[in-house]
Amino acid sequence: MTNNNAAPAHIPVMTTQMLGALQPKPHGLYIDATLGGGGHSRAILQSHDCRVIAFDRDPAVTPHADSLASDFGPRFQFVRARFSQMENELRKINPDPVDGITLDLGLSSIQLDDHSRGFSFQHNAPLDMSMDGAQSPQGAESVADLLAAIDHKSLAEILALEGEEPHAQRIARAIVNSAAPVRTTSELSRIAENATNAKGPKLRKQLARIFQALRRHINDEAAELEAALLTAARILAQDGRCVIISFHSLEDRVVKHAFAAKKIGAVNEAVESNEVAAPFAPTQSLARPSAQECARNPRARSARLRAARRTAAPRPKNIWWKSAA
Ligand SMILES: C[S@@+](CC[C@H](N)C(=O)[O-])C[C@H]1O[C@@H](n2cnc3c(N)ncnc32)[C@H](O)[C@@H]1O
Repeated sequence: MTNNNAAPAHIPVMTTQMLGALQPKPHGLYIDATLGGGGHSRAILQSHDCRVIAFDRDPAVTPHADSLASDFGPRFQFVRARFSQMENELRKINPDPVDGITLDLGLSSIQLDDHSRGFSFQHNAPLDMSMDGAQSPQGAESVADLLAAIDHKSLAEILALEGEEPHAQRIARAIVNSAAPVRTTSELSRIAENATNAKGPKLRKQLARIFQALRRHINDEAAELEAALLTAARILAQDGRCVIISFHSLEDRVVKHAFAAKKIGAVNEAVESNEVAAPFAPTQSLARPSAQECARNPRARSARLRAARRTAAPRPKNIWWKSAA
């Protein structure tokens, strides 16, 4: 069944736990909001005679979508769109209730291993990091463009909030004061290294935090996750499942809070309220990959899976989780 002509892929993470939490059923409709290499979509489609509508913002996933379409025909559909466009896109093609949605956040190996895109500090490349692909009309600005225009205070804020970087002020000052524009991953790494004198594993962790912060910022990842949670609350049928795999504590905290909240602040059809019933209830506690999976696929190491079911609460128009709990 597998089309082996697809481009080199991504090893899917926590697939068994994802399926266990999503609970696909025959004739069900499932959304895979992060197609990537298509491993999770394929596992859902192989588990039962069900349908999958998959989304991804990155045009690089197209060969994987084509492979699934050729293997599963009309049971699989792909839409290239961001989480924040998902509900509108879905409305155009699907009138049916959605039985489950799964999100596997962050970067795929397809993105990380394409060194020309600048996601990794381990390879010299232009500082791009847009997940939409550099040529996309809706694409984010590149990190190089951001660094050319930003002031010290705003950059320090991004490094501190989106990367939890303790030396945010010092590194931001070094970048903003650099004699020439910072246009490559190596230039950025060198400036950060000189700013703090970090070495070895400490330096690698620092660079990972800086690259994560800049990538999250230009791709609007925090707002995209909020949009995905709201969309899940709006499109899922009662008792439908929402499964989210995240790779760092910033994202996991947001998901945990959204799933655990008993009450939320929301705007419902006509009423604005701080105290309406929450759309999600957790179905299990935090799950982590097994030691065997981490040994087979070291990129799985930081994965955290959370799952919830859609409650009977009315469909929210908007949500503010922060006033919840
Ligand atoms: C970790 S990979 C998913 C891997 C996939 N589950 C598999 O089995 O191969 C994450 C994917 O989510 C996509 N993505 C991240 N943020 C997105 C967003 N806001 N909207 C749509 N896709 C997004 C990325 O482009 C990437 O392809």
